[in-house]
Order: sequence, then structure tokens, then C-alpha cells
Amino acid sequence: MVRLAIERKRDGATLDSTTWEAIVAAYMDGTADDAQMAALAMACVWRGLDLGEAVALTRAMVASGASLHYPHDVFVVDKHSSGGVSDIVSLVAVPLVAACGVKVAKLSGRALGHTGGTIDKLETIAGLRTTIEMDAFVRQVERVGCAIAAQSDAFVPADKRLYRLRDHTATVPSIGLIAASIVSKKVAGGAHAFVFDVKCGGAAFMRDVRQATDLAQTLVAVSHEFGRRARAVVSDMEEPLGRSIGTGIEVIEAREFLRGEDADGRVREGCLQIAVEMLALAGVREPRETALGALQSGKAYEKFVEMIEAQGGSRDALERMSVTARAHEVKASHAGFVTAIDAVALGHAAREWSAHEPTGGIRVAMRVGARVERGDVIAVAYGAHANAKRVADAFAIGAEAPPARPLAYATI
Ligand code: URA
Repeated sequence: MVRLAIERKRDGATLDSTTWEAIVAAYMDGTADDAQMAALAMACVWRGLDLGEAVALTRAMVASGASLHYPHDVFVVDKHSSGGVSDIVSLVAVPLVAACGVKVAKLSGRALGHTGGTIDKLETIAGLRTTIEMDAFVRQVERVGCAIAAQSDAFVPADKRLYRLRDHTATVPSIGLIAASIVSKKVAGGAHAFVFDVKCGGAAFMRDVRQATDLAQTLVAVSHEFGRRARAVVSDMEEPLGRSIGTGIEVIEAREFLRGEDADGRVREGCLQIAVEMLALAGVREPRETALGALQSGKAYEKFVEMIEAQGGSRDALERMSVTARAHEVKASHAGFVTAIDAVALGHAAREWSAHEPTGGIRVAMRVGARVERGDVIAVAYGAHANAKRVADAFAIGAEAPPARPLAYATI
């Protein structure tokens, strides 16, 4: 059966839902091996999946494991980011939306390549647990209003195996396979509405706006087929979203933002945009005003503390966190404009340094477009292993200011 399905996909046919179900079942029971699944994945990369196939594969993958269910009178929102650098949106938007009275259940992943993982970031708060029994997770969402936990192995085991195989065989870039992989995990997580933050640019997995928009549309369309409300934002990832890159150092930036301390304009807008979409999906009227009110009143910060305490951390542990003292300033070698920041290089460097010291990493002082004089501090590298030259090499300074880039390219 699987061999025939591979042949048909290779030749451009559309596979029906029974076939997708049988393929996933065969992969899970060992009847189909990795070689066959890799060949099928490559055929999908070349031939694509139509919406019906993406939905069928998503359904079959959800059925491969456990799912969460909330009581019928509890409406729950989730968000997903396709991965970025200095992406503190989950750390901010989850408690912010919960502080506005909308329940948020976020199952998150770990760092992948140069991109950060919310779970690794949260684990830098002393005592905080991210591995939570699923019953306790549901109860926390109902009681506190929000929770962020590591995706359990019990959910969508088929995706876990298939994603690893796709990574090994260069078959990740298929819109249909990506959408099935992401939406299956969201559906199994049990939320009723999803906001997808599809990053686009040099430091994202989707490099061009057309492809990212295509993925965003597919994520929303597949989610609708499962009866979920969904929206997607295609957002810029040509430079780090916030100022801080690392793990604990990003928690500190989120803490400062939620406490109303000076926040970078770009990260502030990025977080608000996702929070507003989450609130709108839950039916909150005037979502932007509501979100701003929760920030200004301190409710969003208090919700962050409450979530941390519910997961074993403490206010004191959060508030005691400070950036590693060992700082290496990175200065502009000549005057001009910052024309580019290599977020991939900074993401890799910060990941290494924060593995040694959780609050080590990088703080970007000058963004793309900033005018600098020779000797101006453009970034600071933190940690005993930090290397200022590596950070300096990630900045390009030219004679002319580059054209401004929007923060979001599309909302679907
Ligand atoms: N992230 C996922 O979870 N799955 C993919 O296929 C790609 C990115």
C-alpha cells in the first residue's frame, strides 16, 4: 500500500484521506519504514499537498497520540511561532492575554538551530517546571488563566518521528507537511483558537513573503477544517525582534516589558500584535485598548508572576534575575548606518553562551537603520565565553540608511 502511495504521489496524484490514515498507521506500527516515509516526504516536497491532503494528514497525525480536552464552557486560545531570534512574544503575550480574561494554553518547543525556545527560556527561572502532567496543565489553565509547558511526547508521536526524518532527509520545506506538523500539535493541545506567527526573512525558516503567506494561509485553512478559529500574522525576521538574545536574558527583557519599563518599539508592537489577534479570536471587543490597559495596570505582570508560581517558580526568583556581569561592549568601527544584522549568527552565538550562563547572551543596542558614529556601542556580549568580535561581525555598517521594513507583511 505505502509503495503504491509513494508511486502515486511521485507522479502527481492526490491521495485520499483513507490512504493518509493508512500511511501514518503503517509508519507507527513499523509496516512502513523510514526509507519509504523519506521517499514519500520528498515526493510531497516536489508535488505538494492540496488542502484536503494536508487536512487528512493532520487528522491522521492527531490520531497517533493523546489529545487534551477542556470543559465545554472554557474557551482556550493558543499561539505558535515558526521560530525566530529574540522572539519573546510568547513570554509576553500569554500572561497579557490571560490578564484580559482569556484563557491561554501554550505547549511549546525547545530551541532549534539559531532560534530560541520558550521552554529553555522559562527554565532559567529557578524552580520553574515546564514538564507538567496534562491534567495539572488543564487545571492550571482553568485556575490561573494560562500555562506554558513542554509538548508532551504523548501528543502526535507520528509528527515527532516524521519531523526528525524530514530534518535528516532535507524534506522539511513542504507547505502541506509543515502545516500538518504544526496544526496537528495545536489540535492535540485542545485549544479552540490559534494565532500563528509566521516569521519571514533571513533568520526565519521561510525566507520570502510569498512562501510565508502561503504557509500562513494553509495553517489557517487547515485549522478551520478542525472547527478552530485561526489567524496568522506574517512577521519580519530579518533582524532580532527584541534587544536581548539568549535564554534568561530574554526572560529579563519580557519581565521589564511586562513591568512597563522602557521597551524597544519593535518588540512592543510585535507582542501587542499577536496578543490583539488572540483577544480578537476570543471575541474581546477593542482588543488593543484592552491589552494596553492590562499592561498599564500591572495586571499582565502579575499574571506572569502567578503563572510562574503555579509552575514552581517564585516572584523572588524572577525578580532576582540579572544579566551576567561579564560584559564585552561591541563598538562601531566606523560611522554610518546599520544596514543589516545577521540574526542567525547572533542566535547561534547567544545559544552557546547562554548554555554556559543562563543570563549570558547578547543585547543589541542599535537596530537596522540606526545612525552610528565610530566608537558607538552597537551591542553588548555577556558571559565568560562571549566573544565581542563574533557580535561585531554580525553587524553591517554602510553609508546609506536601508529602506525601512514593516513589522508585519500580512495578516490572514
Ligand atoms: N515546525 C514544526 O513544528 N513542523 C515543521 O514541519 C516545521 C516547523
